[in-house]
Amino acid sequence: MTKRKIFRVYSVCFFVMTINIYLINDSWIFNNSFNPNGCFRYGPPPILTDGLESKNLLKEGPFQLLPNFKNPCFYGNTSRLTKSLRCLPYFLIAGFPKCGSTDLWKRLTYHPEIVALHPKESSFFDGRRFHQDHPWTFEDFIDTFKADAEVIQKNSTYNRSEALLFHNLITGEASVNTAAMNDLWHKLPENSGLKEPRYTNANYVRHLIPRARLIFIMRDPTERLWSEYVYSARANCFSASPEDFHDLVLESISRFQNCLQNYSEKSCVYNFTIDTFKGRLRTGLYIMHIRDWLKVFPRDQVLFIRTEEYEKDIPYTLKRIFKFLDIGPPADNIFKQMIECERQNVQTFKGTMFTKTKTLLDKFYQPYNFRLSKLLVDFNLKFSHTRK
Ligand SMILES: *[C@@H]1O[C@H](CO)[C@@H](O)[C@H](O)[C@H]1NC(C)=O
Ligand SMILES: *[C@@H]1O[C@H](CO)[C@@H](O)[C@H](O)[C@H]1NC(C)=O
Ligand SMILES: *[C@@H]1O[C@H](CO)[C@@H](O)[C@H](O)[C@H]1NC(C)=O
Ligand SMILES: *[C@@H]1O[C@H](CO)[C@@H](O)[C@H](O)[C@H]1NC(C)=O
Ligand SMILES: *[C@@H]1O[C@H](CO)[C@@H](O)[C@H](O)[C@H]1NC(C)=O
Repeated sequence: MTKRKIFRVYSVCFFVMTINIYLINDSWIFNNSFNPNGCFRYGPPPILTDGLESKNLLKEGPFQLLPNFKNPCFYGNTSRLTKSLRCLPYFLIAGFPKCGSTDLWKRLTYHPEIVALHPKESSFFDGRRFHQDHPWTFEDFIDTFKADAEVIQKNSTYNRSEALLFHNLITGEASVNTAAMNDLWHKLPENSGLKEPRYTNANYVRHLIPRARLIFIMRDPTERLWSEYVYSARANCFSASPEDFHDLVLESISRFQNCLQNYSEKSCVYNFTIDTFKGRLRTGLYIMHIRDWLKVFPRDQVLFIRTEEYEKDIPYTLKRIFKFLDIGPPADNIFKQMIECERQNVQTFKGTMFTKTKTLLDKFYQPYNFRLSKLLVDFNLKFSHTRK
C-alpha cells in the first residue's frame, strides 16, 4: 500500500463512523451505500491534500462576542442576512473516540440549558475542512449552529444588574477526533517545513473559541483500540477476530517503534502512516495529545473524565459536568430522564481480544498512562485491567 492509499482508506473509515451515527443521508461526504450485510461500502475517498495554503484558520476571528450571551455569540454579516446572530460552541467534547462520548452527548442534550439541534459531530477541525469536493470553511462550521443560535436568541431573561436581556442557553458539540486527529498537519502553512507540528487542532480551537470549555473522556487505551477495531470491522465490511486484531497490534507497535528510531516521539505520535484503517494505536497515547491542549488552554477550561468512572456512576459524572459548564442541575424529572436514557452506541460484537494481545498493549501504553497520571494529579487514572 502506498502512503497515499493508507491515508485515504483510513480517512474514509473515520468519516464512515461519523456518518454511521448521524449523517446517514448526508450524501455529500461520499456516495455511501449499505451493502446487503448492513455495513458500509465506501466509495472513492475525497480528501483534499493540495492547496491547503488557503486553509489558514488563524486568519479567522477574533469575534466581537456579545456580553449578554452566556454562549459565545456575535453578529455576523452574510450576503443573505444582515446582522444575523452567529454562535460558536460553548463546550466541546473533543475526545476520545470509542470512549462513551455518544452516550454522554445524548444525555447532555436533555438538559434544558443546552441547545443541541445539530448532529453530535461536525468533524470540522479534524476532517471536514479538508474535504475535497466540499471543504468546509469556518463559516460553514458556524452555520451548523444556526438553529441553535435562533433558540439561544429567543430565550432570554431580564437581567436586573445589567438592565439588559441575558441569554443563558448554551450549545456545544462532540467531534471526538478533534483531540488527536491532525493528519494533515505537515501540509498546513503554519507548520510548513517543521519536523513536528507547532500548530494542532488545540491551537485553532483556542484561537477561534478562546473561552471554550473542553471535555475529554478517556478509557483504558487497550480497550479503546479493541472497540475501535470492532467498530471499524462493521463499518468497513471485514470480519473482526482476535487473531486479526493481534496482527494489527503487532504491526502497529512495530511501525511505531520503527518510526521512533528515526523521528522524535511527537513526530511519530502525529504521523498517521503508523495506523491502519482497522484501528489507530496512536489515539490512545492520551498524554501526548492532552499536553498539547494544556499548553494553550488554561486548566480550568478543561475537564477530564474516565469512561470507567462514568459508567459506574453516571449521575455523579453528569453533576460534575453541570458544575464545569456552569449550568444548573435540571428538574428531577429531567435528571431522571438523563440517567435512565438507554445506553448509546453499545458494542454488540461478542468476542474478546486474546490475553496475550491485551498484555502487549497494556505494556505499550503503560508508560504513557503513567505520564498522564503525573500530569493530571487530580485525575484518578486507574484504568480497569479486568475484563468481564
Ligand atoms: C458588517 O458590515 C458592516 C457594514 O458593511 C461593517 O461595518 C462591519 O464591520 C461588518 N461586520 C462584520 C462582523 O463583518
Ligand atoms: C427556549 O428554550 C427551550 C428549550 O431549549 C425551547 O423549547 C423553547 O422553544 C425556547 N423558547 C423560545 C422562545 O425560543
Ligand atoms: C447578568 O449578566 C451578566 C453578564 O452581563 C452575567 O454574568 C450574569 O450571570 C447575569 N445574571 C443573570 C441572573 O442572568
Ligand atoms: C532509519 O534511518 C536509517 C539510516 O538513514 C535507515 O537505514 C533506516 O531504514 C531508517 N528506518 C526507518 C524505519 O525509516
Ligand atoms: C511519517 O513516517 C514515515 C515513515 O513511517 C515517513 O516517511 C514520513 O515522512 C513521516 N511523516 C511525517 C510528516 O513526519
